[in-house]
Amino acid sequence: MPLMPARQPHFITLTAAAAAPAAEIAAGLLAPAARLSPKFLYDALGSALFQAITELPEYYPTRTEAAIFQAHGEAIAAALPPGLAGGTLVDLGAGDSAKAARLFPLLRPARYLAIDISADFLRRSLQALQQQFPAIEMTGVAMDFAQRLALPDGLVDAPALLFYPGSSIGNFAPDEALRLLREAHALSRGGALLIGADLCKPAAVLHAAYDDALGVTAAFNLNLLRHLNVLAGSDFDVRDWRHQARWDEPASRIEMHLLARRDVAVRWPGGGRDFAAGEGIHTENSYKWEAAAFEALLRDAGWRHVRRWTDARGWFGVFLALA
Ligand code: AVJ
Repeated sequence: MPLMPARQPHFITLTAAAAAPAAEIAAGLLAPAARLSPKFLYDALGSALFQAITELPEYYPTRTEAAIFQAHGEAIAAALPPGLAGGTLVDLGAGDSAKAARLFPLLRPARYLAIDISADFLRRSLQALQQQFPAIEMTGVAMDFAQRLALPDGLVDAPALLFYPGSSIGNFAPDEALRLLREAHALSRGGALLIGADLCKPAAVLHAAYDDALGVTAAFNLNLLRHLNVLAGSDFDVRDWRHQARWDEPASRIEMHLLARRDVAVRWPGGGRDFAAGEGIHTENSYKWEAAAFEALLRDAGWRHVRRWTDARGWFGVFLALA
């Protein structure tokens, strides 16, 4: 056999990911109740810490979702309209692409488009994945689709299967989730959406999952401050802050906060804020859905023929919807 040059994935960076986030960070820190987008959790270390979280005994979503795909993968693939398996697979928030890679044998995509906000992490994982699956045409897109999910013309030009696992949709409030799912509907070009959503369950289970015994989730949350120092030139000292997970029952969401351990003065070029001891920065919402409500949300967003697979405890839902 002649030695073939190794195939390389293509990479595209869409402006939103590169845009200077310093103004957004300053605005969030100066809001009466300081808050930051959870997207700032994901620098390279943050992405690695999230991966570590998925290994924790308390963090059930990743392994529950994986078990659902393990048990029902064949049925899910069989429920796809003809032509969608074997076509284009679009991975929204690919991370290390491990979940999509596990579906490759079932879905046999010809093209794999991996989108993630963490450009360096995406580049590294996609390069490794391309060597493992040389037959698949791979493209990495570094972008922040929290504001708007849309791709340049030509990137998706046939019905595509959109894959949005892990309950990342939970980071969006219901009205934003509706908007994102509508944009996904347009992006799929008459294709389908395979999406994981974390479901309602006892508060004690959620508390343990978002405030684990080893403190990995705490490190994940605190690391956001190091990332801010890089992005905005702020002078946060991680030791001044502590992690807190809070369950908001009426809103059906678990929140992550960073609380000042003492009075803290934070400065950045062009601004600053004094935090009193106990004052917080809200860094993430993770919404938990009733399965029926999530199906209604998908239908509101224009999706049809919604099917659902869950685990025995009904803790996590995998939903397949057709455009
Ligand atoms: C990646 C958004 C699905 O909300 O469970 C893990 C992130 N936050 N532990 C989630 C997260 C705290 C995770 N998502």
